[in-house]
Amino acid sequence: MLSPDLIEEGSDVLVYIDPRRKWVTRVVKGKVFGSDRGTFRMDDVIGKPFGTSVNTSMNVRAYVLKPLLIDYIERGFERRTQVIYPKDAGFIALILGIGPGSRVLEAGIGSGFMCSVIANIVRPNGKVYAYEIRPEFAEIARKNLARLGLDKYVEIKIRDLREGVDEKDLDAAILDLPDPWDVLDVVYRALKPSAPAVFFLPTVSQVEKLLEAIERHGGFVDARCFEILLREYQLVRGAIRPHTTMVGHTGYIMFVRKVLKD
Ligand SMILES: C[S@@+](CC[C@H](N)C(=O)[O-])C[C@H]1O[C@@H](n2cnc3c(N)ncnc32)[C@H](O)[C@@H]1O
Repeated sequence: MLSPDLIEEGSDVLVYIDPRRKWVTRVVKGKVFGSDRGTFRMDDVIGKPFGTSVNTSMNVRAYVLKPLLIDYIERGFERRTQVIYPKDAGFIALILGIGPGSRVLEAGIGSGFMCSVIANIVRPNGKVYAYEIRPEFAEIARKNLARLGLDKYVEIKIRDLREGVDEKDLDAAILDLPDPWDVLDVVYRALKPSAPAVFFLPTVSQVEKLLEAIERHGGFVDARCFEILLREYQLVRGAIRPHTTMVGHTGYIMFVRKVLKD
């Protein structure tokens, strides 16, 4: 068991030099951390509290921080699929209405980015039931989740969601797959009455097709569609303004709630 406060052999750390120079890395005895701003010996930070700093061989100050979930998502996780970005994941987590103890359906898990956000919220006694058709992606997701110890809150099942799910009375569902209209009834049967489902869709034509399927199904109400735009600012005194580039398009967030059919 690693200390929550002290940097130890095996701790993950965020090495921060400046906004463009941040890395999530694991502390290993005898290893040298290298960057274009110089190197330092990892032994020099072992036993120190997170938040400490060291001078690199080029005399540049490097801070050694405890990584947040966002640090893993932005620069620690392996990525093999399209993923749900933090700007969307935070809002999705809110509208799913989940908290500690919630039981959530997810498909597909992809690289596990969205899953890490949900697992972090439902722990310690909740569970994500994540269905994924491609075992090689499920393995990437499992490894990403394991880096933070979040894998124990996720049950990954290698299965096409169209074949159905084992769980019932789930509190929420998040679907990030190309043909969600094919799994509407599977989602319906898995959820508790009144529970929300969120669908992440890259194109407007998918939103239209899903809306039509939702209306035809008749088991969901309160359909809403959102797009999140997030602009980060450059913090240069005298020139504080949005960054020149931003993430332009990721996808649309479609929300519905299950109701009992007559
Ligand atoms: C865009 S990725 C999901 C990324 C994930 N939300 C994340 O943030 O890392 C879509 C995933 O859905 C999986 N998938 C597609 N159709 C599926 C189905 N019918 N059942 C289960 N998984 C499916 C794909 O293999 C892929 O891994």
